[in-house]
Amino acid sequence: MELKDFLQQEEFLVKCQWGISLISARLQMINAELGMRCGREVIHRYSSRIKSYESIAAKLRKKGVEESVQSMEEYVNDVVGIRAVCTYTDDLYRIGEMLCAQQDIHLIKKKDYIRHPKKSGYRSLHLIFQVPVSFQEETRWVKIEVQLRTGAMDYWAGLDYQLQYKKENRKAKNIGRELKAYANAIEQIDSKVLELRKRIEAI
Ligand code: GTP
Ligand code: MG
Repeated sequence: MELKDFLQQEEFLVKCQWGISLISARLQMINAELGMRCGREVIHRYSSRIKSYESIAAKLRKKGVEESVQSMEEYVNDVVGIRAVCTYTDDLYRIGEMLCAQQDIHLIKKKDYIRHPKKSGYRSLHLIFQVPVSFQEETRWVKIEVQLRTGAMDYWAGLDYQLQYKKENRKAKNIGRELKAYANAIEQIDSKVLELRKRIEAI
């Protein structure tokens, strides 16, 4: 079956949606538990999306592989994506560990762009899980990319994403340079704010 048709099938969408529901439920449970333990709201925002045919096809082209369902399953980890935004960097790691400790979902890849930011300046913790989705009496594994970020990482990535579509423009180059510089500033503020929180907690 052609990739485009496959992605429009109801069965495919239902499975993705189930995967999103499963991880969302876990994140909400983790949020409640950490909220109790820490006495503050830990996850501020969730969002999720299923990647469009156009984006999947573009990614496969970039990787130099043929456009097919099999290539997508093999090479594209973020067909289904969930993002959770927190205030503090240590919470991101705590959430990551708690997700990994869940028995029935399996971590298949971890990309720590916080300790190792991308050249662009992009920072986030990415965890790619396989989650079991039961459908018509069989269990299929669905890959889901979980992106964990602070609010600062999130607005930075939002601007960077907007800029990617305007790369050709001359003005965009200068803005890109400035944005890159702010990635460092934001990193420092994130760690300073965390340090202050810890000092307040210790009083
Ligand atoms: P490879 O790059 O081939 O490993 O695969 P990938 O592109 O799926 O993984 P990567 O971890 O690079 O990116 C996954 C997702 O992270 C993207 O779809 C974006 O949501 C986000 N991301 C990665 N790099 C950047 C970046 O430089 N800027 C922004 N705004 N988002 C990024
Ligand atoms: Mg990439």
